[in-house]
Amino acid sequence: MSEIVIQRVERDVILPLRGQVLSSEEARVGAFPGDMATETRHWAALLDGEVVGCVSVMNLRGWALRGMAVAPEQQGAGVGRALVEVVHAEVGAPMWCNAREDAVGFYARMGWTAVGPRFVIQHHGPHQRMTWG
Ligand SMILES: CC(C)(COP(=O)(O)OP(=O)(O)OC[C@H]1O[C@@H](n2cnc3c(N)ncnc32)[C@H](O)[C@@H]1OP(=O)(O)O)[C@@H](O)C(=O)NCCC(=O)NCCS
Repeated sequence: MSEIVIQRVERDVILPLRGQVLSSEEARVGAFPGDMATETRHWAALLDGEVVGCVSVMNLRGWALRGMAVAPEQQGAGVGRALVEVVHAEVGAPMWCNAREDAVGFYARMGWTAVGPRFVIQHHGPHQRMTWG
């Protein structure tokens, strides 16, 4: 049976999936500010060599988790959990993210805590600041 492998990768490896799954304008063009900073890290989830998940951590006034995405056909199968568990272990320091409203339950399940009220990011709907560690 095929296994999910989580690996640190160069940013360009994850751009197509990020652009496919995340609708924000900056994700569609592929780049986040801070993507190429030396301390920024990117991880891919690989299934038979294919990128089926990705996440990045960068220093934006503290460690920020960004660009969390799992391919639609693989969602709900543990890929997101596998990615976040590796990020927790490898970063090992407090992090924050702005979770989409429909991903809040996922982060909560992974041990993240909602902080403050929901807020709307223009064109991208309701979000929730969450923290870990
Ligand atoms: C949100 C997302 C990253 C989760 O990844 P995933 O691979 O589907 O999640 P997993 O299957 O690893 O789920 C991990 C756990 O969280 C739970 N979970 C997943 N999504 C959930 C949700 N929306 N609400 C509540 N719990 C959820 C699962 O039941 C699972 O629990 P368990 O391991 O204890 O059984 C993925 O669905 C995705 O890419 N969605 C679209 C893009 C997106 O919203 N990205 C986040 C931007 S902030």
